[in-house]
Amino acid sequence: MPTGFIFDLDGVIVDTAKYHFKAWQSLAKNLQYNFTEQDNEQFKGVSRVRSLELLLEMAQYKATEKEKEQWLIDKNTHYLSLISHMNNSEILPGITEILKALKAQQIPVALGSASKNAQPILEKVGLLSYFDVLVDGNEVTMAKPNPEVFLTAAKGLGVAPEDCVVFEDAQAGVAAAKAAKMTCVGIGDPAILFNADHCFASTAEITPSFVQSLIA
Ligand code: BG6
Ligand code: MG
Repeated sequence: MPTGFIFDLDGVIVDTAKYHFKAWQSLAKNLQYNFTEQDNEQFKGVSRVRSLELLLEMAQYKATEKEKEQWLIDKNTHYLSLISHMNNSEILPGITEILKALKAQQIPVALGSASKNAQPILEKVGLLSYFDVLVDGNEVTMAKPNPEVFLTAAKGLGVAPEDCVVFEDAQAGVAAAKAAKMTCVGIGDPAILFNADHCFASTAEITPSFVQSLIA
């Protein structure tokens, strides 16, 4: 059985985590809440709807359904404007090389992201063709840390979950990968991603030989 590779999008393939942060921060400002980088850790990997719920809890604001609906639209509109000029310069270091190496060896590759904007982002940065399967926020019903997104990706690849490797930058994403019984490579602070099987401070530190060592 070949190894299946599953990549999260935001914060693993592209540097969009900073744009999500900016958009949430500006919404938080309207609620008189000072949204910090530390708060943002809980938002990584989490769906748009769940993120808004978290923000409202943090700001201790009881919003009406109408307000929530409007703010979800506002946040996404702001986010889309922030990513509108995105191009391949925002692919995180080493990612293109990893995807090229996997493609050359015909290793099955999937995207496993909570984002509903995943496909247009992959198109913008020119990486869409490296993915055999896309599973994103438009398909999954249960957000990370639920393993649904990664189990659906493994199924799409035709690879057993135990034979899949997930690359993740979010604590919720690492938890989802481990709940799916997959090997997890964390990208970020090892103190936050302590449940990952391997951890790198940034994608730049992932060497080709490490990637090869993951292939069965
Ligand atoms: C995840 C991000 O990949 O997607 C979260 O880590 C984001 O920060 C979530 O909220 C949903 O993204 P989108 O693009 O559908 O708002
Ligand atoms: Mg992420």
